[in-house]
Amino acid sequence: MIISCTVKKTWYFARYNDAARTLMIEPMYTLKPQNIVDVLPHPAFLLDFEGSIICANTAAKQLFGMRPEKHNFFKLIKQPNARKCIMKAITTNSLVTCNLELHLQTPRTYAASTAVLIPNTDENGVLLFTLNDVSAAIDAEKSRSIFVANVSHELRSPLTSLMGIVETLQGPARNDESARERFLDIMQRETRRMSRLVGDLLSLSKLEAKEHLAPEGNVQIFELIQRVTAVLSESTSAYKDRVNIHAQKNLPVIKGDQDELTEVFQNLIENALKYSHPHTPVDITITHMNGKVTIGIKDQSEGIAAKHLPRLTERFYRADKGRSRDMGGTGLGLAITKHILNRHRANFLIESEIGVGTSIVVAFTK
Ligand SMILES: Nc1ncnc2c1ncn2[C@@H]1O[C@H](COP(=O)(O)OP(=O)(O)OP(=O)(O)O)[C@@H](O)[C@H]1O
Ligand SMILES: [Mg+2]
Repeated sequence: MIISCTVKKTWYFARYNDAARTLMIEPMYTLKPQNIVDVLPHPAFLLDFEGSIICANTAAKQLFGMRPEKHNFFKLIKQPNARKCIMKAITTNSLVTCNLELHLQTPRTYAASTAVLIPNTDENGVLLFTLNDVSAAIDAEKSRSIFVANVSHELRSPLTSLMGIVETLQGPARNDESARERFLDIMQRETRRMSRLVGDLLSLSKLEAKEHLAPEGNVQIFELIQRVTAVLSESTSAYKDRVNIHAQKNLPVIKGDQDELTEVFQNLIENALKYSHPHTPVDITITHMNGKVTIGIKDQSEGIAAKHLPRLTERFYRADKGRSRDMGGTGLGLAITKHILNRHRANFLIESEIGVGTSIVVAFTK
C-alpha cells in the first residue's frame, strides 16, 4: 500500500485548508487533488466517502454554476443512480459506470464513472467521479436507427410490389397479354423509384461529407431557374405554362455549384407544381437588395399544417405520405435542398397558410 498515515494529516489539510490542498502519497511525493481533476476534460469531482466535495474542476464548476466544494455531492446530484454507482465503487473497489439524466440548463444524458482513489482505511477515503455528456452520441444513434428503419421501409414497399407481380406473371397471369403490359408499367415505376431513392441517398451522403466546404464557381441564378422551369414544363403536361418568373434586372452572379443549385430549384419548383392545385400558377420572384439575392417561390394549394413545417427537411418526412409516394417522391428532396443550401451559406425559409398556399424563400449573400 503506497498511501501511508501521512494521508490522514494531509486529508484534513485537503478538507479544511483551502490555501494548501494537498494529499501526501509518499513522504517524498505531494499530490494536489485539484491537479487530478484539472487534467480531466469532462466535469470531475474528488469526494470523500460521505459525499463531501473535496474539489471540482472548471468543467464541473461551469456545469453546476457554483463553488461545488461548499456542497454535498448527493445534494448536487440527487439521482439515486449516482448514489448507487458510488456505493458500488466503494464496496467493490472498482471502476463503476452508469448513465445519469441531469436537468441542468437543458436535459442531457451523462455517462458517469467513479472509482476509489484512496481506500477508506482511516476514514480518509477519496473517490474520483466524472461526467461525460453522451447526449449527442445517443441522439446520433437514435437518428441512425430511425434512418435505417426508414430506408428499409422505403425499399420494402416497391420490392414487395415487384415480388407480387413476378409471382402473378409466373402463375395466373402467365398468358394474359394485357395484364403483362399493366404489370410492366408498375415494375418500371417501382424500379425507377428505387433507383431514385438510392441515387438520393448517395447524393445525401456525398453532401454531408463536403458540407463544411464552400462551393466554388459562379451561377447566373435567373438563367438556371429558367432552364429548370423549361425542363419541368416539358416533363409533363400538368406542369406546362404554369410558372411565371419575375426577375429584377442586372442580377449579380452567385457563388455556387451549378449542379447542386439546379437540384435545389428543381425540387422546390417541382414541389410547388405537384403539391398545388392543378392549373394554378407558381410565381417565382428574384430580387437583389442589400447584397442579397433572394428567390421566392409561391404556389396556390391547400397549404401545409404548421406542425409539419419544422420537420419538412428531415429525411423521409412528408406532410402527406400517400400523395408524395403516389407521385413517385422519395421524401428526400428537401433534406438534400437543406444540405446544399447550408453548404452555400444561404437562408432557407418555408411558410405556408392553410387554404392559401406555400411560399419558399431562398436568400444568397453574394
Ligand atoms: N410546395 C409544397 N406544398 C405542399 N407541400 C409541400 C410543398 N413542398 C413540400 N411539401 C411537403 O413536404 C414533403 C417533403 O418534400 P420533399 O421535396 O422532401 O419530398 P417529396 O417531394 O415527397 O419527394 P422528392 O422530392 O424526392 O420527389 C412533401 O412530401 C410534401 O408533403
Ligand atoms: Mg420534392
